[in-house]
Amino acid sequence: MCGIVGYIGKDNGIDLVLEGLKELEYRGYDSSGIAGLGKSQDPFVFKEVGRINNLENKLKKQEISSNLVIGHTRWATHGKPSKNNSHPHYNNSKNIFVVHNGIIENYLDIKKELIQKGYTFYSETDTEVIPNLIDYYFKETKDFKKAIKMALNDLRGTYALLISSSLLDNRLFLARLGSPLVAGFAKDYIIIASDQSVILKHTKKVTYLEDFDLAEVSNNKIKIENLKTLKTFDPKIEILESNLTEDSLNGFPDYMLKEIFDIPETIRLASRGRIDSKKRLVKLGGLDSVISQLEHIERIIIVACGTSYYAGMFGEYLIEELADIPVEVVLASEFKYKKEPISRSTCVIAVSQSGETADTIAALNKVKDFGVLKLGIVNVIGSTISRITDAGVYCHAGTEKAVASTKAFVSQIVILVLISLRLKNVSSKQTKEILKELENLPAKIEELLAKKEDIKKISQKYSKYKDFLFIGRGYDYPTALEGALKLKEVSYIHAEGYAAGEMKHGPIAMIDSNFPTVALIGDDSLYEKTLSNVEEIKARKGPVLVITSRVDKKIKDLVDDLFYIPRSSNYTESILTAVFLQLFAYYISKDLGLNVDRPRNLAKSVTVE
Ligand code: AGP
Ligand code: GLU
Repeated sequence: MCGIVGYIGKDNGIDLVLEGLKELEYRGYDSSGIAGLGKSQDPFVFKEVGRINNLENKLKKQEISSNLVIGHTRWATHGKPSKNNSHPHYNNSKNIFVVHNGIIENYLDIKKELIQKGYTFYSETDTEVIPNLIDYYFKETKDFKKAIKMALNDLRGTYALLISSSLLDNRLFLARLGSPLVAGFAKDYIIIASDQSVILKHTKKVTYLEDFDLAEVSNNKIKIENLKTLKTFDPKIEILESNLTEDSLNGFPDYMLKEIFDIPETIRLASRGRIDSKKRLVKLGGLDSVISQLEHIERIIIVACGTSYYAGMFGEYLIEELADIPVEVVLASEFKYKKEPISRSTCVIAVSQSGETADTIAALNKVKDFGVLKLGIVNVIGSTISRITDAGVYCHAGTEKAVASTKAFVSQIVILVLISLRLKNVSSKQTKEILKELENLPAKIEELLAKKEDIKKISQKYSKYKDFLFIGRGYDYPTALEGALKLKEVSYIHAEGYAAGEMKHGPIAMIDSNFPTVALIGDDSLYEKTLSNVEEIKARKGPVLVITSRVDKKIKDLVDDLFYIPRSSNYTESILTAVFLQLFAYYISKDLGLNVDRPRNLAKSVTVE
């Protein structure tokens, strides 16, 4: 989703900003643009729809250079993807320029007022009100910073903003409310971005803006004023740590396939240094500081979105089974508005690959003053969620570039297993068994991945269908939901995940010979029950593909297709099933000739609510 890159220094920053925008491409965008101040402060703006290459080609033909550049990749929220709607946006006099991530909720009211004052608008965006509002207040006060403050005070919603102007002498303003911004101090310049991955190539010395911060950047210096506390201060410099890995394709045709094949190593990385194999103990350094608080926890609420929410459901089953603490998993977007009693003995765990998902951040902000313990299970080091939680455990899954989450999902489950074992004293026998299973899991996944050609064949057989049902019980239930989501995301095929037992309470009405079911039948006590559901579907002529580890002639004779996964314990077996389903979605998408890494309408990190 939307990206921001800015440069202020001595040299020409255009190429650097373009390179930064390319770094953010994987997050999903529909158009891009940059603005700068050329010789004798004359401003320029260039915008293009589609790939950043289009913008780059356009810029190659210009003879421009600028030592103050702001750039943006837009993921449209207000107004279609078009040149006019793309950022940077500017005021009527074309001397104030703004790039914006987020949403201005009251833009229609502001727009109406500005129109009454004589302003005109060229775009359908919410953002365009910002430069005009600054312009309006600047004309009133003749003080640019004051004008920005007054404008920000009128805005409702969320923003990360870079504001430049030819009225300013080489100064750039940054503002943040609910959308990330980080500034990096390189030797001769300052680089600003919405994602630290852009900064990493330039410097490790960074400062993160907090909500309500307004920063003024000039002469390789930053001065920050927090508009809530009204305090002005020098930036707190942090050294960027990163677990972002080399992100080349390594010979794979797409990131999604590469990342699925990364999974065995991801599991090893998630457990490395966290398991004392001799004593069979779990050590999670990230939780050390809150361990005494954890001992008094009586209820856990897991908040997350999308795939991370399904990992959270795994967490619910795991923690309740292993640590004996009641758990609820709530969609972050619902949790924020849910009115429910939350006592201080509650722990809220946010699960997020990016650590920047707006809904999940909002859910954490809701409980900010409740005195509850807030933990994060996050992949990206230094991301907002990792910074606003009291403690947490990093996934260490490395960079995940494909929009559809695969390896991060598996690493989140592994972390949840480790947390479950760390929460209360699970018997050492059980801990030993579970850790052994985790240790064996990478090799079993490798065994499964080695059968990719068989999985491809099965997937191709099913790519002609327009609707799918995914069913499972126990740990296979969140797996079914995730399998359906993966298929929807990368192939645009309608798929529904259901608890197998719920099937006859409604969805079975849809079953006919054109509506296949993917049935996940773990080798556990629920095996017979799910098998009965499969019988019910077959009795209605629904095609059925079963994923199981149990070799049973009964199923073989009953269903249309059958894929055996290596045998493992309940939840580890569901992880194997999840990997099968990721490949299933991947190969269907490829068979349909779609862009598997960048599915339409989706963004890697959803930074607006
Ligand atoms: C995953 O395939 C999706 N693209 C999406 O559901 C994602 O899991 C969700 O937006 C949450 O993201 P996060 O883990 O970065 O918070
Ligand atoms: N709301 C703004 C728009 O639609 C910004 C979108 C974004 O964050 O990319 O233009």
